[in-house]
Amino acid sequence: MALATDAAGLEKNILRPSGEKALLIDGKIASEVVLAEVAAETAARAGKKSQPGLAVILVGENPASQVYVRSKSKAAKTVGFHSVQYDLPEATSEDELLKLIDQLNADPKIHGILVQLPLPPAINSTRVLERVSPLKDVDGFHPFNAGLLSIGDLDRALVPCTPAGSLVLLEKAAKALGVSLAGADAVVVGRSNIVGKPMAQLLLSRNATVTVAHSRSRDLPAIVGRADIVVAAVGRPEMVLGEWIKPGAIVIDVGINRVPGEGVDAQGRPKSRLVGDVAFKAALSRAGAITPVPGGVGPMTIAMLMANTLRAAKLASA
Ligand code: GUN
Repeated sequence: MALATDAAGLEKNILRPSGEKALLIDGKIASEVVLAEVAAETAARAGKKSQPGLAVILVGENPASQVYVRSKSKAAKTVGFHSVQYDLPEATSEDELLKLIDQLNADPKIHGILVQLPLPPAINSTRVLERVSPLKDVDGFHPFNAGLLSIGDLDRALVPCTPAGSLVLLEKAAKALGVSLAGADAVVVGRSNIVGKPMAQLLLSRNATVTVAHSRSRDLPAIVGRADIVVAAVGRPEMVLGEWIKPGAIVIDVGINRVPGEGVDAQGRPKSRLVGDVAFKAALSRAGAITPVPGGVGPMTIAMLMANTLRAAKLASA
């Protein structure tokens, strides 16, 4: 049952009061614990085993992607990895990108390769993601890793970072509330390959009874209403209403949606704010524990990328 998450001892208490019924699950603290453990293990390898190496590739100038990629490269340096970043122009051809991936696949100093999505429309993302060696696929997007996860081979699978981080938060919250994931009714809202489907597989690996709900599901309020565990990953602001939540349920909100805020900023531009896929305020009075947005699942994604890279380095030298 090895998962990169197992590296995280998470001794610190990541739950804090909200002033309402629900405890808040602090993803920032949890991510710091994971990063500290990865840094400690990396330091302990120094001089004995190869330094974990992460290559991050950005094609084009999508501003949100630029921010993500910078954060990933910086986190890799902070935990002591060999970290390289490729900023390629928008006009990069698919063949050029595939050639770079081939080089990195063959480079013994690189254990993890991440191609930031979305790619420019002229590039076939599926071909690119499938070119990354499954052993260096620290995003866990290659069909080989998706297959390992779906057959429950967590000893070998590299698991996508956002669901892996969500599971760490969920396990910690369940332990603190004295509930077991085994036998629990878990509902995942959203069926993406990046979050919904791998999340469902992870919950299944922990012996939860898993329902995957989606845009065509009938009576979503009733499906969510029976769940002891709700993972919302639909990308629609506050779509899961607070009154749907079963009292005491653990709610993991994967959504990060920018919506109009109130007033204007110093430059006179309309303010915006981030909200999740769950109507947070209303959910606070019903849930047993809930992740805030921001500060919940978000920080865990990069931490799990580091944990996956260390794991890939360990698997390579095993
Ligand atoms: N774009 C948005 N999220 C992700 C992610 O987790 N991995 C990659 N490669 N691209 C992304």
